[in-house]
Amino acid sequence: MNNNELYYGDNLDVLRNKIEKDSIDLCYIDPPFNSKRNYFQIYTNVGKEDQAQAQAFIDTWTWNALADRALMEIIGNEGGRYTRQTIELLKGLDAVLGRSGLLSYLVSMTQRVNEIQRVLKPTGSFYLHCDPTASHYLKLILDSVFCARGGDFKNEIVWCYDTGGRSKTGFPRKHDTIFWYTKSSKFLFSYDGASVPRDTSTMHEPVLVDEKGRKYQRNIKNGKEYRYFLSKGVLPNDWWTDLQALNPAAKERLGYPTQKPEALLERIIQASSNEGDVILDAYCGCGTTVAVAQRLNRQWLGIDITYQSIAVILKRLEDQFGADVLNTITLNGIPRDMESAIALANKKDDRVRKEFEKWAVLTYSKNHAIINEKKGADRGIDGIVYIATDSNSTAPVVFQVKSGKVGRGDIAKLNSDRIREKAVMGIFITLQKPTADMKKEALDAGFYHHVLFHRDDPVIRIVTVQDMLEKRELIDLPLLHSVLKTAAKANTDEQFNISLDETEPDE
Ligand SMILES: C[S@@+](CC[C@H](N)C(=O)[O-])C[C@H]1O[C@@H](n2cnc3c(N)ncnc32)[C@H](O)[C@@H]1O
Repeated sequence: MNNNELYYGDNLDVLRNKIEKDSIDLCYIDPPFNSKRNYFQIYTNVGKEDQAQAQAFIDTWTWNALADRALMEIIGNEGGRYTRQTIELLKGLDAVLGRSGLLSYLVSMTQRVNEIQRVLKPTGSFYLHCDPTASHYLKLILDSVFCARGGDFKNEIVWCYDTGGRSKTGFPRKHDTIFWYTKSSKFLFSYDGASVPRDTSTMHEPVLVDEKGRKYQRNIKNGKEYRYFLSKGVLPNDWWTDLQALNPAAKERLGYPTQKPEALLERIIQASSNEGDVILDAYCGCGTTVAVAQRLNRQWLGIDITYQSIAVILKRLEDQFGADVLNTITLNGIPRDMESAIALANKKDDRVRKEFEKWAVLTYSKNHAIINEKKGADRGIDGIVYIATDSNSTAPVVFQVKSGKVGRGDIAKLNSDRIREKAVMGIFITLQKPTADMKKEALDAGFYHHVLFHRDDPVIRIVTVQDMLEKRELIDLPLLHSVLKTAAKANTDEQFNISLDETEPDE
């Protein structure tokens, strides 16, 4: 099976241009909510002091040119893509909400949900994960996209959890909403996949066990014994209280704040797909859906707009399923040649920041670096990795990436930043070719002697994007410390073993 694909890019573009109509069995999405806050991605590292914050996706919705264009597309029914109900609904929302951040979010969701409906197979299912901030508006959109084309609303699942901070000025908000829609009334639902073991401990009638070890209850009618077998599980109600959210200490945690528990995705995937089916997550974050799909022998497609997400997913899959799994994944949208690297460097997208720098650092470090997300004067450092210096200590190696004109001064600056950060080496990644002066400046910085490995490495190393792409010149430093918490090796039991002790404020 080699039908697993990761796309780096805007899901609207990927959905429209890369994914065929009627090709997906199940789509789950967990888009950034309209929560008026930014998501921070906290990378877990060797020590507390090494934690760096990385802003993955800027989840602050404002009315801008992109939103304006999208609303015009919907209202003008460009390409005949939208239903009459969707068009009228968006006109109404425009009148009621005005050109606001909320409308911007809803317009963006309408475009994407509409494409998801297109790519689903006629028997396909769609799960939209959201919270009460905008769920009432999203349901109107889903009705207009799905039900107006013969699809069905199946469930509003209320996922309850108890982690995070607790409000003192109102009832703590401790649930998310997951809408389930189907493309038609002929859809797949697996009773066995969705059901949970029956709780026999609270039953009033005695529970007996027959000669084959099967649990049953007895019913005597007209002197005849009837056995009611309890081996079949029961379907959970549409409110789920048995799957806790990940707390900060959970084993499964990868340092992605919006990470969902594997158990949640497992229930959805088991309920609405069979082995071999194609699962899509168009906002895949740190890859919970794709990791569970992989474990449950489904084919999968994942899309994310930030390169950090792609890097985390590759690392997560490698940790859970072994390095060979990487050969079974097709990567799309990632620079492979100079032309596409230059295009990424020149890309302007207000929703994400410094994507070229992140791609360069993560690619060169084989997805092991921490990204420095400090805005403005970033103190010269774009990323950091840790190498083992002896059996129990580590030292930082810093990165700087440049896509524009470079000169000798850049190397001198990296070296002084390196000294300030107490890093043993500095790696300078450049899109343009280095000058002879730069090479000399780097050479003058001398060599770092690695006692453990008896090798000398240049203190300042200059790497060109071209060599990285064409000669696969990637990090070769010994014993690189893993930055992202290593995903627990795929093990179903572990996924359910979520501890409940710590909480973090998230309201
Ligand atoms: C809430 S997170 C998903 C978390 C995921 N369910 C998990 O368990 O890791 C939302 C993700 O959507 C991505 N995203 C936001 N807008 C996007 C877009 N237009 N196209 C693709 N991905 C997008 C963000 O980068 C972020 O990683």
